[in-house]
Amino acid sequence: MGTDRVVVVTGGASGIGLGVTQLFARKGHAVAMLDLQDAALEKEGAALRAEGLNVLARRVDVSNREDVEAAYAAIRETLGPIAIVVANAGISEGIAFKDVTVPIWQRMIDINLTGVFHTVQAALPDMVEAQWGRVITISSHAAQSGAADRAHYSAAKAGVIGLTRALAREYAAQGITVNTIPPSVVATPMAEQGIAAGTFPPLDVIAQHIPIPRAGTPHDIAAACEYLASDGASYVTGVVLPVNGGMFIG
Ligand SMILES: NC(=O)c1ccc[n+]([C@@H]2O[C@H](COP(=O)([O-])OP(=O)(O)OC[C@H]3O[C@@H](n4cnc5c(N)ncnc54)[C@H](O)[C@@H]3O)[C@@H](O)[C@H]2O)c1
Repeated sequence: MGTDRVVVVTGGASGIGLGVTQLFARKGHAVAMLDLQDAALEKEGAALRAEGLNVLARRVDVSNREDVEAAYAAIRETLGPIAIVVANAGISEGIAFKDVTVPIWQRMIDINLTGVFHTVQAALPDMVEAQWGRVITISSHAAQSGAADRAHYSAAKAGVIGLTRALAREYAAQGITVNTIPPSVVATPMAEQGIAAGTFPPLDVIAQHIPIPRAGTPHDIAAACEYLASDGASYVTGVVLPVNGGMFIG
């Protein structure tokens, strides 16, 4: 594949997003890692640049359109037009549906669904201009099978899958593919926080229920992103690619 593209990874300073950032940067792409966490952005960005890689780290709240637009203007000026977007930033929390207040619901939708809308829509003009682009969204197994105490999360992620499929059709004739990866269980700070809060079982317990009996790694997801972003995947669009050890086979 071309390995000198400009890649945007949201939630790029932690977990899956960091794994994607590392893999794409090490393959030779210019990568903009966007995240809310200043300290992690600084640390991980500096570590990658110390490897000689072309990485731009910037604080962005994906639920804020102005933030996203300002970051993209800086990316275009510093790195060039955006060719690949991995819309990965997200939050998760376990909370009984009866306790989901309107602000809790709204925050989940704002970050996990509207954040993807902003991230993708603001990048598409570059891809249309180039008549080449790759959009990869990170959804969730929760949208496929449902997840108790995560109705708001499941609904937002189901929205991401619908958005992905619609955009796949809308942009197919313009050299732009749009696919989604719904992970099940990936060992990341998000999973660790859920375990610590008692809203997510320990990974060794969940692993007993996964056909490939281990939690996924950020690299597992990143490797699938690499494939979807490749020239070899130019005929693959609208796909929900379950990188989940067989946890959900739909
Ligand atoms: N870990 C899993 O088991 C799992 C399972 C299914 C889906 N996912 C999805 O994968 C994605 C990545 O999750 P992860 O496990 O790596 O979590 P993580 O918490 O390790 O990383 C998520 C990153 O997103 C950032 N982020 C959160 N809100 C943001 C915002 N408004 N603007 C910009 N950045 C923001 C966080 O700061 C964090 O660095 C999420 O969308 C999550 O829902 C994860």
